[in-house]
Amino acid sequence: MQKLIIKGGKRLRGEIPLQGCKNSALPIMAAALLCNEECTLYNCPKLTDVFSASRILNGLGCRCSFSGNTVQIDSSTASETEISEQLMREMRSSIIFMGAMLGRMGECTVSVPGGCELGPRPIDMHLSAMRKMGIDVRETGGRISCKASGKKAKGAKISLFFPSVGATENIILCAVTAEGETVINNAAREPEICDLCGFLRACGAEISGDGESRIVIKGIPELHGCEYRIMPDRIAGATYLAMTAASRGEIILTNACPTELEPFLTVLEQTGCSIYSDDDKIYLRSGTRLKAVRDRIRTMPHPGFPTDAQAVLMAALVSADGTSVFEENIFDCRYRHTEALVKMGADIQVMGKIAVVKGIDKLNGANVEATDLRGGAAMVIAGLSADGVSEITQIHHIDRGYEKIEEAVSALGGDIQRV
Ligand code: UD1
Repeated sequence: MQKLIIKGGKRLRGEIPLQGCKNSALPIMAAALLCNEECTLYNCPKLTDVFSASRILNGLGCRCSFSGNTVQIDSSTASETEISEQLMREMRSSIIFMGAMLGRMGECTVSVPGGCELGPRPIDMHLSAMRKMGIDVRETGGRISCKASGKKAKGAKISLFFPSVGATENIILCAVTAEGETVINNAAREPEICDLCGFLRACGAEISGDGESRIVIKGIPELHGCEYRIMPDRIAGATYLAMTAASRGEIILTNACPTELEPFLTVLEQTGCSIYSDDDKIYLRSGTRLKAVRDRIRTMPHPGFPTDAQAVLMAALVSADGTSVFEENIFDCRYRHTEALVKMGADIQVMGKIAVVKGIDKLNGANVEATDLRGGAAMVIAGLSADGVSEITQIHHIDRGYEKIEEAVSALGGDIQRV
């Protein structure tokens, strides 16, 4: 099993391009199933989750191939309506294939996506929305069979009790080729929803309101192919910025998305870093010990502070001057990384959804296990700013979301090796 070995203490400095966005690439790959012609996606990150999505597409009879960061998907030959339990378990985002398969084939059999990484992640909103769209949904022994009466889903008015990203994506995917109009109230407003809708519009879909709480989708008979460039990954961006800040370094992120990163950047600025952005570049300079963040850091749906950036910011703040307080409002069990940070010397008290982080002078290197994707990235940040050597195991979690993290860190002058 591979691991990362990190020698901490180097000040990171340099320029790196930001990878394409995982959380856009996965729903957009699912959306390509709705097209009767070939789609070409540029800036697609090469990640294990993306390869899982490609295995799902190939299993459904599509032809999905990679050349560098370009993916070609030909769904004209799609014929299967089932995704195996094993493929469903490989990644949580597999559930968004449900909407795409219903939109394309009018039926599908999937499973509850597995694991308990961040606490319970129910799919009740996904299923009740499908039922509202005229889909017969049956659940037996972990398998979920869905079928549209008369081959097509029907447009509906759907109000979500929480702006779920996954449920919003599933409804959009099911609605673009449904009969009639679908309205989603209290829709998720994440930038990745806009990216998915941008792709679908490039394929001929009629969607308006994405990026706002009310999305309207007018069903059309079928979608054509297109060429589309996936947006930059704002969470990978947040990770490299937090990493550089913690090392008291300096970074230029190119191919970045400053507007989408604003909720993160406004908090990071409170640590005393200088941050400037221009078009698709973000410049950060840290220089001295970070200051603790004054305001409570509350994770919220976009445009609030992203839950995905909670762990990486915490890893930077464990050695800041003063006390920072986090409040995790999206997931019940998203502080699993704190145990590893404490092992490295951090002073963190967790009480339910609150984590109080008292800054210490210096972390010490330690052997730790990545607990989940962003938690694993937090351990890389901690290892780079610690005294001594850290070994991180279970790095398959990290590889789900970061394209060759060791190359990006090395390009910034960090001492990291994958062995
Ligand atoms: C969430 C994040 C997203 C992030 C992703 C991966 C939010 C709003 N969403 O998206 O930004 O990229 O994790 O870490 O921050 N829920 C239900 N029933 C459902 C669906 C969801 O109760 O049917 C609850 C979940 O348990 C959770 C909340 O709604 O507490 C947010 O879920 P959702 O936005 O769907 O999660 P993801 O799509 O996984």
